[in-house]
Amino acid sequence: MMKPEREPRWLTWKRLTLCAVIAFTLAVSWVALDRDGARALDENACLACHGTEGLYKTNEAGDKISLFVDEKAVNTAAHRYIDCTTCHTAAPHDVATPLTKLSLAEKCGTCHKSEYKFHLQSIHGQQLVQGNPDVATCVDCHSPEGNPHSVIRVLEYNAPAYKKNIAETCAKCHDNKALMADYGIVEKVYESFMRSFHGKAIDLGNYQIGQLDVATCTNCHGYHDVKSVNDPTSPVAGMDNLLKTCQQCHVDAGPQFVAGFLGHKEASTEHVPAAHYTEIIFRVILTTVIAFGAVVVIAAIVRFSLKRWRK
Ligand code: HEC
Ligand code: HEC
Ligand code: HEC
Ligand code: HEC
Ligand code: HEC
Ligand code: HEC
Ligand code: HEC
Repeated sequence: MMKPEREPRWLTWKRLTLCAVIAFTLAVSWVALDRDGARALDENACLACHGTEGLYKTNEAGDKISLFVDEKAVNTAAHRYIDCTTCHTAAPHDVATPLTKLSLAEKCGTCHKSEYKFHLQSIHGQQLVQGNPDVATCVDCHSPEGNPHSVIRVLEYNAPAYKKNIAETCAKCHDNKALMADYGIVEKVYESFMRSFHGKAIDLGNYQIGQLDVATCTNCHGYHDVKSVNDPTSPVAGMDNLLKTCQQCHVDAGPQFVAGFLGHKEASTEHVPAAHYTEIIFRVILTTVIAFGAVVVIAAIVRFSLKRWRK
């Protein structure tokens, strides 16, 4: 009798070992691979010096400027695909830059020409040109650290210019009482905005696109072209301009709609008296209701105590 031929086995020790070796090699290369994501474009090894903290320069205005560039921030910034030398030229040390807010804006403006042009015409930009460092420039609105190397794209949820975050970005200065007093700006613009319908709706909006249609600072004042509110071309100057601004969203709004708008001011006998008196009437009604409740409770307690005392 013939011995029954065995099926050839495909799973041999030799093959198993080969598979194990391949798997091990793959695993080692996977682990060794740098998976931090994109590296900063640093074709000239600028970060060899600028990537370590402790390098400073004092500019003409006497401000000590850190020359440290945080590679981690650069890696996630809007400009991560632009090499240092594209913005700084291949010989950045040959020309000493003033390193002021104005020279910074000028450099941003070499690429972002129209944003720069509008910015220079704004109340912030006009002051900047005169050497005033208190006002907003590009990085105050585009980088959480106010740094040219950590500019964030405007539609990223953590961008200072992202709609939900704008009020807070403006508030860095406009909610600073001492700073605002220097410029005679008396209204508590941030507080009053957060109290308004719009502010509450933005605050409650959970990053949902649907909530982003509510007005924030920049819908009423603009952003690169923010004007003084006394400038007749400001979108909030005078009833006509203001009505047009509201009509961007409240399409059916008429003069009455705007007449009842408090702006940043509290209602008073002069400013929107109707709202002022309505508020007073409401307060009187509310106080009456509470007082009535209190009287009823006190009367009940007195009656109860008297009864027990008589017993
Ligand atoms: C060997 C170290 C070193 C390297 C490499 C280096 N820097 Fe610098 N950098 C310095 C020092 C030191 C200063 C301060 C010079 C001073 O005080 O005037 C400086 C200043 C600067 C400034 C401020 C210029 C000014 O005076 O206004 C810029 C911008 C700059 N570096 C960019 C770069 C770029 C871009 C590269 C890569 C192409 C680079 N650096 C490579 C050491 C270095
Ligand atoms: C998208 C343009 C851009 C890129 C890319 C860029 N920078 Fe800058 N950098 C600027 C601007 C704008 C300033 C502010 C200049 C001023 O104040 O006059 C600046 C300032 C600096 C300064 C002075 C200190 C400071 O923070 O103000 C140093 C140092 C510097 N950059 C190094 C670098 C290095 C190193 C890289 C690459 C890793 C780099 N930059 C990439 C735009 C850029
Ligand atoms: C007062 C705050 C503020 C200042 C100052 C400012 N920006 Fe903006 N910027 C914004 C806001 C807010 C947006 C986003 C508007 C939107 O939601 O579309 C924006 C948008 C942008 C955009 C996206 C494209 C566009 O134009 O909408 C670029 C690029 C930009 N800014 C660059 C700059 C530069 C460069 C400067 C300085 C010359 C600057 N910004 C100054 C607030 C500011
Ligand atoms: C060398 C030219 C150059 C310079 C200088 C430059 N940028 Fe840009 N910027 C760009 C380019 C290109 C993009 C688009 C990047 C992308 O889409 O990946 C961009 C994107 C941006 C965005 C995001 C726009 C959006 O739609 O979200 C902002 C904000 C911005 N830049 C602000 C600035 C500021 C502030 C400065 C100065 C600190 C500056 N830029 C300097 C070229 C430049
Ligand atoms: C719905 C429209 C609207 C919104 C939203 C809005 N404002 Fe105003 N803002 C006005 C009007 C109208 C005025 C002029 C009358 C007034 O002062 O109330 C004004 C005035 C101002 C002034 C000048 C105040 C003074 O005392 O001279 C500043 C500064 C200002 N706004 C900043 C802001 C900031 C910052 C935000 C966001 C936190 C904001 N505004 C949101 C409409 C708006
Ligand atoms: C880095 C600080 C800073 C930031 C950020 C800033 N501002 Fe200002 N802003 C100022 C200063 C300072 C003035 C006063 C300038 C003057 O009156 O000469 C001013 C003036 C104004 C005025 C004119 C006020 C008037 O009296 O008519 C308006 C409106 C305004 N800012 C709106 C905004 C809005 C909206 C934002 C946010 C998108 C913003 N600002 C962000 C500093 C800032
Ligand atoms: C960018 C769009 C936008 C602009 C500009 C705007 N609003 Fe609104 N507003 C809204 C949205 C959206 C709501 C609804 C908020 C909610 O209830 O969730 C709202 C709500 C209101 C409310 C609450 C009652 C109601 O009708 O829902 C009043 C009052 C109001 N806005 C007044 C104004 C005035 C006055 C102006 C001009 C000075 C103005 N708004 C400009 C988007 C805007």
